[in-house]
Amino acid sequence: MERTFIAIKPDGVQRALVGQIISRFETKGFTLVGLKLIKVSRELAEQHYDVHRERPFFAGLVDFITSGPVAAMVWEGDGVVASARKLIGATNPLTAEPGTIRGDFGVNIGRNLIHGSDAIETAQREIALWFTNEELISWEPRIKPWLHE
Ligand code: RTP
Ligand code: MG
Repeated sequence: MERTFIAIKPDGVQRALVGQIISRFETKGFTLVGLKLIKVSRELAEQHYDVHRERPFFAGLVDFITSGPVAAMVWEGDGVVASARKLIGATNPLTAEPGTIRGDFGVNIGRNLIHGSDAIETAQREIALWFTNEELISWEPRIKPWLHE
């Protein structure tokens, strides 16, 4: 079953949006299989954003992501990687569509509230980076027959 890595960044936690953001994934019909609040180390932040290492915003991004608690999670479901990116919206909250998380709650690209894996392979890498196998719980929600034919 497809899984994706989602992290509510320090701004989302500080603005008390954790519940509303989790709610969007729950009500969409995805299954939560991992969840923890974490104070991110510089090492983890740099590994997570390794693809952006040469970008001018890299140092600021690492400073920011390590500045306060992050709510890390793994969601499961058919097509969850691409669908989560749609629920999250465009990188810049000012151009993200209303109805998306960034479009509804954010105004600045450096404070865009949430991270979501951008591809299935990236999701596998990020899940392994942030979670141990023991922290991920496989379970069947009882509403499954009402979500899938
Ligand atoms: P994310 O990885 O956090 O889910 O966001 P994304 O795929 O939509 O955007 P990405 O291009 O991967 O950029 C990663 C994060 O870097 C920050 N950023 N700042 N100041 C800037 O021009 C700039 N560009 C990107 C954002 O916080 C973005 O989420
Ligand atoms: Mg990205």
